[in-house]
Amino acid sequence: MPVRDIAEGDLQVRAQAVLAYHRRTKHRPDGYAAGPETLDWDAQPSPYRHFAGAPVTLLPLVSDGIDAPFAALTGQHRVAAAAPDSRSLGALLELSFGLAAIKEYGPDRWTLRSNPSSGNLHPTEAYVLSGGVAGLADGVHHYRPGEHALEQRCATRLERPGLWIGLSSILWREAWKYGERAFRYCQLDIGHAVGAVAAACAVLGWRAHPVPGICSGAIGQLLGLDRAQDFGRAEREEPEVLLHIETAPEHGSPDNIPAPEFAGEASWSGIANLLDPHPMYRWPVIEAAADASRGEVESMTLHGGAPALPAPQARAADIILKRRSAQRYARDHVLPRSAFVRLADSAGQLLRGTGLQLLAFVHNVEGLERGLYALGGNADGEARLRAALTGDFAWRELAAMPEVPSLRLLATGDFRKLVRALSCHQAIAADACVTFCMLAEFGEAASGRPWRYRRLHWEAGLVGQRLYLEAGALGHDGTGIGCFMDDEVHRLLGMTDDTFQVVYHFALGLAIADTRISSAPAYTDRFRREADLRTS
Ligand SMILES: Cc1cc2nc3c(=O)[nH]c(=O)nc-3n(C[C@H](O)[C@H](O)[C@H](O)COP(=O)(O)O)c2cc1C
Repeated sequence: MPVRDIAEGDLQVRAQAVLAYHRRTKHRPDGYAAGPETLDWDAQPSPYRHFAGAPVTLLPLVSDGIDAPFAALTGQHRVAAAAPDSRSLGALLELSFGLAAIKEYGPDRWTLRSNPSSGNLHPTEAYVLSGGVAGLADGVHHYRPGEHALEQRCATRLERPGLWIGLSSILWREAWKYGERAFRYCQLDIGHAVGAVAAACAVLGWRAHPVPGICSGAIGQLLGLDRAQDFGRAEREEPEVLLHIETAPEHGSPDNIPAPEFAGEASWSGIANLLDPHPMYRWPVIEAAADASRGEVESMTLHGGAPALPAPQARAADIILKRRSAQRYARDHVLPRSAFVRLADSAGQLLRGTGLQLLAFVHNVEGLERGLYALGGNADGEARLRAALTGDFAWRELAAMPEVPSLRLLATGDFRKLVRALSCHQAIAADACVTFCMLAEFGEAASGRPWRYRRLHWEAGLVGQRLYLEAGALGHDGTGIGCFMDDEVHRLLGMTDDTFQVVYHFALGLAIADTRISSAPAYTDRFRREADLRTS
């Protein structure tokens, strides 16, 4: 339902429901948020959705031939815009949602993708809406990362030519493992996915913009997610965001981001597969949080301004495809000063357009004393953050690092043990060079715009995605950390109300590779699969 049709009182009720969800899904030292007591790994929901009977088109795998430098991702190098066709769309999807590597350890074999995902569960599904894209039928297509293929859900003409990517979440994929907290992880994953699309667009000389003003229900209709007859018992998908892909970008951001409209007949095909035939648990609060936080997507800047410092020299597609989450860090490694400055500069460009503030637990960074630092964020929110952090903090400017003018030293000290405990006792948070803590301003979600709850998590994922890619380009590694003890973080900071809440941690340092795990490139069995698809 469009937001203007929702009564003010209902919005307040929904905002309170969202905040109640947030409170009840906090991890605490005396107990984690409610989740399954046992997990049967053999019964994990399928990571692949497909729509049986929908016509499948394989996409070309062309990322090897794309030479754009990493600087293109941060607006520091202009790439000539690629023509929108099945080749460039193939590159876009491979670099945002495609398989990036196959890992093996003993009898276990698993795939990793261009986009990261909490627990590697990949709740995000991607759809393409296209009109007039050469080599692709007009209509709605669902992306199949397993085969790097599109299946056509709907044949229809669009009112105007163009290209859009729609994202949905299959909440159960995440809830299967993480229980009630899973809705947060799905939203962080959407932020990473949006960041992954933005990066892939930049490589092609394109830009991605969320279509503002479109409500969840309308996105669901466009993507066919409301078609109960096509889902049957299969897990439903939660509409999240629709991105317009500007394939001939003008300078600056466009004022008018078009929404797709069907023109005339729409012919749907395909029946969704069931991902988990025997769900062991139910977590109704997840659906309640999803319901309460539906609303209108607001305009959002995905690309940010260009950093002042030169970008690391690297091929963008390499950095994207080789991005991996570190599972262990070299604990004595010191992050070079120049790398820290570049990270702060690049992440800062994105933070400006968000409702987030970034703190950093600095463990090992050249030129910085160990301690807790504030790195800034949304300029309007900064004064409110200072008021909210009632702990005895210095807020000292750092003459030693003038390149990061927003950097403030809050407290010196060795926080490694503490941050490890705050991050669900994960060693990565202590052994990394720096562990970031993203604080989101909850004020507006609390005052009647409940969809802001999703949005704040998207922003955190978007910044996290930038940190992953920057870390990779600087010869380092990152790990998103969705598991943290919320109120313990707040207590450390002296936060006494809900104005700000921690929504994400992110570790960054030098990974130690696990030599027991072997890695193979993805899609090597592509030719066999092509034969399979022709007969399915
Ligand atoms: C939102 C989010 C939360 C995550 N939380 C954790 C975490 O708490 N601990 C951890 O070791 N990894 C965490 N990860 C990393 C994922 O496990 C990782 O992305 C996934 O296994 C896929 O591997 P890849 O990033 O190398 O592709 C998180 C990732 C995301 C996107």
